[in-house]
Amino acid sequence: MNFEIVTAGEQHLKYADDICTLMEQAAQQRGTGIAKRSPEYIEQKMSEGKAKVAFKNGRLAGFCYIETWSHGKYVANSGLIVHPDFRGTGLGKKIKQAIFNLSREKYPEAKIFGITTSLAVMKINSNLGYKPVTFSELTTDEKFWAGCQSCKNFDILTRTKRSHCLCTGMLFDPVKKETTSKIQDKELRWQRFKRFLMLHSLRAKRKMLNGLKKKNQ
Ligand SMILES: CC(C)(COP(=O)(O)OP(=O)(O)OC[C@H]1O[C@@H](n2cnc3c(N)ncnc32)[C@H](O)[C@@H]1OP(=O)(O)O)[C@@H](O)C(=O)NCCC(=O)NCCS
Repeated sequence: MNFEIVTAGEQHLKYADDICTLMEQAAQQRGTGIAKRSPEYIEQKMSEGKAKVAFKNGRLAGFCYIETWSHGKYVANSGLIVHPDFRGTGLGKKIKQAIFNLSREKYPEAKIFGITTSLAVMKINSNLGYKPVTFSELTTDEKFWAGCQSCKNFDILTRTKRSHCLCTGMLFDPVKKETTSKIQDKELRWQRFKRFLMLHSLRAKRKMLNGLKKKNQ
């Protein structure tokens, strides 16, 4: 299925109420907790160009936005929602990829993280290079954790002194990612070099054999 996914702007403010309703309905359906967002907060994210909104033939299909924590050291891609009519079509994955790319452009040095109980989101995050981590690896910004107050599981988080809850913490660390890809690059270069040596020695052998044949003729 094809969708239009764009960076949100002033022209999308009218969708803020519907987005909040979709988020609340999804939380109720799943019976899990959720950090509540107000339409004003969603509008602010749209105005700042820190959100992606998806449409199917002009109809609102999904949404996600960027939040920064610990003075920009951490970024969270929050509030991912896909309209029930379009779930399981790959749209969640596409929106998350789009907001991830926007986060990397805007905050290339930042660690990107999320906390979730959703298996679909865990799969999407893993594919983007996130790793599961303990909460101690995440931002210590009080404002982020205060967002959990409206979640019905907040008492668990408080009881465990913020060390764990029902959500799984996941983190994309750009430094570790670069190191990994550098290692992968090294590996690739080594394999290419070995292939080059093999071809080179094969060619040299062929030349030698041809030379011998010519001598014997
Ligand atoms: C979670 C949500 C955003 C996923 O979006 P989606 O468009 O339905 O997901 P996609 O079709 O892109 O699927 C992404 C991956 O998750 C898997 N998946 C989708 N729904 C799933 C489910 N209910 N259970 C387990 N895996 C699921 C898909 O198979 C796919 O995996 P793959 O990459 O291995 O093929 C959407 O279902 C939703 O809005 N749910 C309600 C709100 C919510 O839970 N938000 C997350 C809060 S943290």
